[in-house]
Amino acid sequence: MKLELNHTFSFISKESMQSYESKVASTYNTIFNRTGAGNDFLGWVNLPSEIDESLIADIEQTASVLRKKSDIFVVIGIGGSYLGARAVIEALQNHFAPLSGEKPLIVYAGHNMSEDYLHELIAVLDKKDYSMAVISKSGTTTEPAIAFRILKQHIINKYGEQEASSRIVAITDKAKGALKQLANVKGYKTYIVPDDVGGRFSVLTPVGLLPIAMAGIDIRALIKGAIEIEKLCKSNPTLNGNIVSEYAVVRHIMYESGKTNEIMVNYEPRLVYFSEWWKQLYGESHGKDHKGIFPASVTFSTDLHSMGQYIQDGLRNLFETVISVENSNHELCIPMEDEDLDQLNYIAGRRISEVNHKAELGTILAHVDGGVPVIRLVIPEVSEYVLGQLIYFFEMACAVSGYMLEVNPFDQPGVEAYKKNMFALLGKKGYEEKTEALNKRLGI
Ligand code: PA5
Repeated sequence: MKLELNHTFSFISKESMQSYESKVASTYNTIFNRTGAGNDFLGWVNLPSEIDESLIADIEQTASVLRKKSDIFVVIGIGGSYLGARAVIEALQNHFAPLSGEKPLIVYAGHNMSEDYLHELIAVLDKKDYSMAVISKSGTTTEPAIAFRILKQHIINKYGEQEASSRIVAITDKAKGALKQLANVKGYKTYIVPDDVGGRFSVLTPVGLLPIAMAGIDIRALIKGAIEIEKLCKSNPTLNGNIVSEYAVVRHIMYESGKTNEIMVNYEPRLVYFSEWWKQLYGESHGKDHKGIFPASVTFSTDLHSMGQYIQDGLRNLFETVISVENSNHELCIPMEDEDLDQLNYIAGRRISEVNHKAELGTILAHVDGGVPVIRLVIPEVSEYVLGQLIYFFEMACAVSGYMLEVNPFDQPGVEAYKKNMFALLGKKGYEEKTEALNKRLGI
């Protein structure tokens, strides 16, 4: 299936694009020869083509056993340990999954520390059969650790220690971290997050694949889609004829010209979490050394009635990347009415998707006229295969873009700052000096 990148409305000249030709080639060299910053986190590059058949079969088998005994499957994780799975699941499941009766329903925990959220989740789990995956590469992240401690007690109280253990899957480091030790002691089914794959690049490891398989989604088709774009990048690691490179270069030129905010736009609400995944991938990979494009997202036409005004007329530091879906999965036409009191007969008989496409085109033209350059990534449909293509497309473009920006795209040192403060404020052992300094600052 062909993805198409159209950047006519980014108004970047051919010459300006071509001036990045050698930079792109040398960036791919840096990636494939593993010579750049963070090169010990490049495991995702070969992941689609090198994933073991026995691992896929094992994940499918685990999912098949757990699906039979679960009304609900709880995915406990935060950041890269849940966003990839959620992006794919929400893109492919029924919009009204909680009401559709499809089982198991996938729900999420450990991505916030809301007491009310967990309380209400427990009230639901009291009445339902469930199983869960606890996902943390480091095995020490506070948010999922708290959620798991609480839900672990709940599942043991509900089913007894032995059955509870058979309903828990741990996905973590092969040796390090509290979660690994816990999983060993309790005998949970465990999957490994490869050492050389960082959280936000881990959707095609068990981190994403198990929850996705639990939702009844075809993980083999997802991987096949990713393989296609992996092959493209490896067979043509240049600027010409490679849409991954083109996207990376266009956004780099945008950034250099002062367009420091990129808005991912979709016209399909099923893609909301795909944008969330993309925001983490780009925000956490590039936002460092006081550099990087700020990634934002909107869902149109919903947000045309909220953020549309700002995009049309606000500060001109924006550009948009529109994910344009060619074909809907279902067909629905606007009915004709004799009276035409709502004056919609002029579009009677036409598909909703046609109206949506016209809204997309009209919006692009309006935003371009308002000084917002637009990149369009056209995808034929929202399916497993295409999502696999998109995942690898954005991962590789993120790496290429990051190296062009001269940052290490694979670390996230800034995430530690809030954690240190939180631990000090909670009085964690080892943080005494920081606690004192913060208390002084806060006048406590
Ligand atoms: O991309 C990343 O590395 C982060 O977003 C992590 O996925 C996130 O912080 C969760 O970390 P962990 O899986 O160690 O619990």
